[in-house]
Amino acid sequence: MGADGCQGCQRVPRVPEYHAHTRALLALLALLALLAPVAPVAPVLLYSFAVKRLRVGVLYGGRSGEHEVSLASAAAVFANLDRARYEPVPIRIEKDGRWALADRAPTAVSAAEVIEQSRLEAARPSRGGREIHFMARPSEETILSIDRRPSHAEEGQAVVTGLNLDVIFPVLHGPYGEDGTIQGLLELANVPYVGAGVLASAVGMDKGVMKVLFKAAALPVCPYQVIFRHDWQRARDPLAADLERLLGYPMFVKPANLGSSVGISKAKTRADLLEAMDLAGAFDRKIVIEAAVPEAREIECAVLGNDAPQASVPGEVVPSREFYDYEAKYIDDGSKIFVPAEIGPRTSADIQRLSIAAFKAIDCAGMARVDFLLSADTIYVNEVNTIPRFTTISMYSKLWAASGVEYPVLLDRLLALALERHAEKQQLRTSLT
Ligand SMILES: Nc1ncnc2c1ncn2[C@@H]1O[C@H](COP(=O)(O)OP(=O)(O)O)[C@@H](O)[C@H]1O
Ligand SMILES: [Mg+2]
Repeated sequence: MGADGCQGCQRVPRVPEYHAHTRALLALLALLALLAPVAPVAPVLLYSFAVKRLRVGVLYGGRSGEHEVSLASAAAVFANLDRARYEPVPIRIEKDGRWALADRAPTAVSAAEVIEQSRLEAARPSRGGREIHFMARPSEETILSIDRRPSHAEEGQAVVTGLNLDVIFPVLHGPYGEDGTIQGLLELANVPYVGAGVLASAVGMDKGVMKVLFKAAALPVCPYQVIFRHDWQRARDPLAADLERLLGYPMFVKPANLGSSVGISKAKTRADLLEAMDLAGAFDRKIVIEAAVPEAREIECAVLGNDAPQASVPGEVVPSREFYDYEAKYIDDGSKIFVPAEIGPRTSADIQRLSIAAFKAIDCAGMARVDFLLSADTIYVNEVNTIPRFTTISMYSKLWAASGVEYPVLLDRLLALALERHAEKQQLRTSLT
């Protein structure tokens, strides 16, 4: 097993013990710091020998169309988790939904690179690795690895090991990862995890419901309609005429619950609209149609925190194509990111304020990237991404780096926020008696 793998799966202290341990150690380190001129390496040595590292299960891959994008994000997390303090355990969710303890952590840094790699690997047999099984109930051993390899077990037997993870970092984009389903599983198991909970994850994945909550929080959203595929298929022309009357061309037609611009089209004519609705309907039973924001500039802002979230400086994406579609996001090299965005200080402050308001409107936690469409001086909140792309060159990390939070520190904060939120939840009363 490589350096990133599960090494022996030993027992380590659970989170509260870890904190107590760390507190005692910090006191000792402070004492040693006084002696540092005498023995400058002592604190470092002591740290590496005495601190039990936090075991972080990094969940990546997944059943969504954004599987490859997740691999690129996870590679960055593995590369930047401080090994003196964290022991990352790579848990890969295959496209068919199987969970496996990966022999090697992913390494490719860009989504384009991973997509190319998977194309080349498609013909090869699927890779090995130990199966991971998840117990959806609180216990000491919620995450188990089952090793059925003959070299590790007598024939017909399997070796079952508890992974003893202290926290889970879901680096999964799109459905079955970013949409509350995995988060629900982690809640059932009572395991701390990074990022938004069930509700915010589900809302952040549903462009229709998200807009309802934005409007309720008095946030500016562009004119839109929601049509269910079931209704569309029964009344295409009358509904198309309604959309023309209510929104006018051009319109953006989107499956409600996807990401990465999959299934999204810009419709400029009735013929386009019919095609775009059918395409979106092939991806989702719910379709969101929006009036196109004219000359839209795409401004994005990163948010970090739980109950008192903070916003980064805003950035701007300039897509290489007519809009920021799948190719412009992952295939073309032409799209450009500007950090910070060249917008005036007032617009920038408005974007930051709206980002925090949008984060709170969906009851988000940990992290989110809030995306805006800016037309002249009018700002529209487009969407909240609860697990934004997360490579070191992705917008989310660049925005924090430009705001003084480097990537490894960002990881520290996210893990601390996960533990904080989980600890807070344990304090809640669960009965009246
Ligand atoms: N109402 C709109 N007006 C102008 N451009 C839009 C609008 N909605 C979407 N777009 C373009 O389509 C892209 C993808 O839409 P978005 O809602 O962000 O979906 P996704 O969740 O897949 O990123 C945006 O980045 C933008 O380029
Ligand atoms: Mg988007």
